[in-house]
Amino acid sequence: MFKNDFPYFNNSKVVYLDNAATTQKPQVVIDAQVEYYTHYCANTHRSSFSDANKATQQYENARTTLKNFINASKNEEIIFTKGVTESINFVASSFAKKFDTIIISSLEHHSNIVPWHMQGRVLNKGLEVVKCTPNLEFDFEDFERLLQQHKNAFVSITHISNAFGTIHNIKAIIQLAHKYHTPVLIDGAQSLSHMPIDVQDLDADFFAISGHKTFGPTGVGALYVKEKYLKELAPYQTGGATIQSVDYLGSVLLDSPYAFEAGTQNIAGVIGFAQALEYLNHLGYDSIQKAEKQWYEYLDAQLHTIEDIVFYNTTHHAIGSRSFNIKGIIHDDIGILLDKMNIAVRVGHHCAQPIMKALNIKGTIRVSLAFYNDKKDIDAFINALKKAISLLKG
Ligand code: ALA
Repeated sequence: MFKNDFPYFNNSKVVYLDNAATTQKPQVVIDAQVEYYTHYCANTHRSSFSDANKATQQYENARTTLKNFINASKNEEIIFTKGVTESINFVASSFAKKFDTIIISSLEHHSNIVPWHMQGRVLNKGLEVVKCTPNLEFDFEDFERLLQQHKNAFVSITHISNAFGTIHNIKAIIQLAHKYHTPVLIDGAQSLSHMPIDVQDLDADFFAISGHKTFGPTGVGALYVKEKYLKELAPYQTGGATIQSVDYLGSVLLDSPYAFEAGTQNIAGVIGFAQALEYLNHLGYDSIQKAEKQWYEYLDAQLHTIEDIVFYNTTHHAIGSRSFNIKGIIHDDIGILLDKMNIAVRVGHHCAQPIMKALNIKGTIRVSLAFYNDKKDIDAFINALKKAISLLKG
């Protein structure tokens, strides 16, 4: 029933199970962007004619919508970015530079690894990796050991693994880090589409958000920064609309968020993203989670009926994504055959090569659900998977 809100499903025969890569967009999100481009396309925070004022107002309303959505305390704490990757790169090349050590988990996406490498931080030299259990769960003892060992550290950690769906208990992680006066950035790329986020309740210091993984447009996201850190945050890029005054001797920057949003922003994207959040508000996370949990469990049960399937974790502390391999078959071959049967899943390393290497595999077949998926999708996928296996096994 949710699919009626998403035009993609009326126009495509594809069984879409790649929601961890990007989600489909409800009509209201598309309409909001078309409305901006069609009726009041103008730049924000610059000109003062009516359409420009309207664009600015809608853009700032979107900030308020996101602030309320994640229960930030002030609009200034919400900085729009291109997405989680830009949010992490921003913090890595600005606030986090002063820390001797960055602590990450074993389940990070490359976007929370490569930015640290670019600063010359590698394992045991400015970068530490918390171990995980055989079920890919966060090892709190190892984390505490690292926090004790590294006094001037910054923690940057994913909320939910994009590759395996593992949920990190970020509230407990933040609490423990704060016991050692260590600030924490949460990569929330995979979480907002599945569960409500309350940054004050979590006591998060930084929280990176993706628009396109939360039913919004691509090329838009945000960085939440706890108010107390705003004064310590230097922009990593500057330019138009970030300044109070400029002469050839220097520039005086505006306060947050404007100092951090250099250049013309993705105005349509921000406005569309706010509509996605309004849409989620309208549905409510209770109904989203109820629908999704049911089909995630069903998917897992159906997968367990397949001979020679290999899992790397249980669904115990996991959500959204289910990753596996079939013994004796290359995951890419399954992907090719599934595509021929109109099933969209991601196969490969999922931008998480280090954990794949630790598991001694090249990649997996990943099915990732959103609340609009249903029993028909899973049945079609399981049938296609069985067909692909029998073709490949001969
Ligand atoms: N990070 C996205 C994924 O997991 C692209 O597929």
